[in-house]
Amino acid sequence: MIKVLFVCLGNICRSPTAHGVFEHLVAQAGLSDSIRVESAGTGAYHVGEPSDPRSVQEASKRGYDLSAIRAQQVKANDFQRFDYILAMDHSNLADLKALCPVEHQSKVALFLDYGQVYSEQEVPDPYYGGGKGFLKVLDLVEDASQGLLAVLIKSGGETDQV
Ligand code: 4NP
Repeated sequence: MIKVLFVCLGNICRSPTAHGVFEHLVAQAGLSDSIRVESAGTGAYHVGEPSDPRSVQEASKRGYDLSAIRAQQVKANDFQRFDYILAMDHSNLADLKALCPVEHQSKVALFLDYGQVYSEQEVPDPYYGGGKGFLKVLDLVEDASQGLLAVLIKSGGETDQV
């Protein structure tokens, strides 16, 4: 079993989108028994809440169901539990690296390192912006999700990071 944790700040916009999109791709590939997906936020502002309705709606238009996801905060034992801990932006990455025990640091990376089409390094936070931001999140997340899945399939269950 490979375990993947997607992380943003609030766990209501970007990381739930990554969670839902990647889980969908994993299911389509018939790998739901081999790859486990979760998401969390570095902040606790929205713990227990459903994802932002704008994220849920835009994801739904592309066939992804985020409705069951509830926000949670990154926990100390997540660094043991997960094999891949993937940050949406550099700020999330720095916060995770500061929390992460030294022996697990190699698990923590930027999610868009797995992107193949877009050159962006960060998924921009759409929370305070307009609807276009949520579409951009989906575009970037779909691209990196495909790249990540290809790496995991190639690794054959080994947990080497890119
Ligand atoms: P997310 O977006 O990190 O993509 O979930 C945010 C949602 C809420 C807040 C910040 C970012 N907030 O400060 O409440």
